[in-house]
Amino acid sequence: MKRNVFQEFLHRVLQNCAKPEGLLGKLMVSLMNATHTPVAQWGLSHLDLAPDAVVIDLGCGGGSNVSAMLAACPDGHVTGLDYSSVSVAASKKKNAAAIHAGRCRIVEGNVAALPFPDESFDVATAFETVYFWPDNSFPDVHRILKPGGEFLIVCEADGSCPSDETWPQLIDGMKLLSRDHLVDALEKAGFREVQTDRRPVMNETGRWLCVRARK
Ligand SMILES: C[S@@+](CC[C@H](N)C(=O)[O-])C[C@H]1O[C@@H](n2cnc3c(N)ncnc32)[C@H](O)[C@@H]1O
Repeated sequence: MKRNVFQEFLHRVLQNCAKPEGLLGKLMVSLMNATHTPVAQWGLSHLDLAPDAVVIDLGCGGGSNVSAMLAACPDGHVTGLDYSSVSVAASKKKNAAAIHAGRCRIVEGNVAALPFPDESFDVATAFETVYFWPDNSFPDVHRILKPGGEFLIVCEADGSCPSDETWPQLIDGMKLLSRDHLVDALEKAGFREVQTDRRPVMNETGRWLCVRARK
């Protein structure tokens, strides 16, 4: 797609949503921490987190959802994983006290090859990130969850509103994943009890999507 000057500028900034890098990436992780709270809180309200849950947040960005889950699981442990060194540094800084206390770790890695043993986690979460994952990443998420473990996916766009189409035009490699696509991919990966919820936002010009699945 040919972009005008303004669209090219926006593209350069927003490309950091896919993988934050450099100074603009640092700015983007701060912005994500500041702006994703409402959709993350809504998504998290679908989980009944045990106080001692062992959780992993995949594509953790600036680490604010790691912090939220540490607060929700006072006797638990939360791992954040991201393939951007900028995201990893920001998440480590944000959660420094919990890391020091041995309740948190932040790992640089790709969801396509998760560096964890089978059946390591009670809960895996993915906020605003599955748009960028390689196809067929869900079987590895299934592998690292304990039997009965839960996987929560939260997205601010799923292609069901005309305005959603703007995002892949501005961010290379971004895929809008529909509710049906996600349900199908999760079931093919071995998940069961796949449940979805939607919330209209911005006078119904947008929709949030939450998908919850059990191993
Ligand atoms: C839009 S940000 C969302 C960050 C955070 N979850 C939030 O809600 O604020 C997407 C994050 O997913 C990470 N990401 C994208 N693809 C990834 C992959 N294949 N493996 C690991 N992290 C990935 C990016 O580096 C980025 O930090």
